[in-house]
Amino acid sequence: MLIDIIAGARPNFVKISPIINALKKAQSGGFDVRYRLIHTGQHYDPKLSGSFFEQLDIPFPDVNLEVGSGTQAQQTGQIMAKYEQLLLNLPSNYCLVVGDVNSTLATSIVAKKMGIKIIHVEAGIRSGDLNMPEEINRIVTDAITDYFFTTTKQAGQNLKNSGISDDRIFFVGNTMIDTLLNQMHKLIEPPFFKQLSLVKNEYIVLTLHRPSNVDQSENLISLLKAVVQASKGMKIIFPVHPRTFKVLSQVDFSSEYLNLVEPLSYLEFNYLVKYAKAVITDSGGVTEETTVMGIPCMTLRNTTERPETCVIGTNELLGTNPEAIKPAMETLFAGKWKKGSIPEKWDGKTSERIVIELQKIFAKGL
Ligand code: UD1
Repeated sequence: MLIDIIAGARPNFVKISPIINALKKAQSGGFDVRYRLIHTGQHYDPKLSGSFFEQLDIPFPDVNLEVGSGTQAQQTGQIMAKYEQLLLNLPSNYCLVVGDVNSTLATSIVAKKMGIKIIHVEAGIRSGDLNMPEEINRIVTDAITDYFFTTTKQAGQNLKNSGISDDRIFFVGNTMIDTLLNQMHKLIEPPFFKQLSLVKNEYIVLTLHRPSNVDQSENLISLLKAVVQASKGMKIIFPVHPRTFKVLSQVDFSSEYLNLVEPLSYLEFNYLVKYAKAVITDSGGVTEETTVMGIPCMTLRNTTERPETCVIGTNELLGTNPEAIKPAMETLFAGKWKKGSIPEKWDGKTSERIVIELQKIFAKGL
């Protein structure tokens, strides 16, 4: 029995690390399964890829498809062609994909057409916003997935509403949180922490990489100005994604309060978040991590596929209008930000639950 485990972009690495660990543990306990780790090469910069492999102890990929960047279709198409070639030479029995990036979609389509069963971890979440490539990736992947592992009951309900039968949906929790809880005691203070004289609980972390926020420089600058104004002189640390850097490097904007830093490693980024006053972001994964760490989080998007981070957690959806930032920051500075709690089964044991279910699925020969 051979499972392909697919990873292509930064958040994928965080999600597959504990699954691989749980698989290895089960193998040593007698689970007769082999896995092949396939890196599509969607992310290739050491800061977006290699550092995650090193820090999260992810084994060196068995295969790297080395597709690199491109338009949506170029990237997706390249991954499809290269993964198909691999499967033609060396077929597998199952294809395990995580999340919602182009690598998730591309490999799922190829596997399904070659009669390989798809296991989707983080299935069923929906934002309803078809302007985001990730939402299209989620819908298409789930339309052809065989086994659905979900982070919340709501995600399972979304799948049932689309006609998926109960026996293919497994509510297991969140593997990203497995990683967070495993790594929490290893977090690393970034070198700039002292250089910038950062004080715990007295700085803001900002991340922005969604095309709708960063691809048009006017939008990006309006958001940055609003964050700076609303932060009332508090230091803002902004690890800049390469996509965002491309746009920022073409314009002339700076502020003494806004500190641009390179993309951070996993352990450094979560150190920064753990001691932040608040996080302002357009990432989905970050809203899950802030929820578990109990850090106030403001999301600069109009929708979220992770409503639990708002309903149960510390996240608030502000939308993309810069004017929404000031009142939210006033609530924060008044000490009135909601406390939040942790969603069900976000307990660090999700990957173990996934592997237990996989053993049952394989035993039935499904
Ligand atoms: C991708 C995912 C997004 C995820 C994000 C995490 C899709 C559709 N999007 O977005 O869901 O939240 O990863 O970071 O799959 N680049 C580099 N070095 C790299 C990779 C990319 O410089 O290692 C630059 C390239 O200029 C590239 C741009 O970043 O064109 C965007 O990369 P891409 O992988 O297409 O999408 P992300 O914006 O990273």
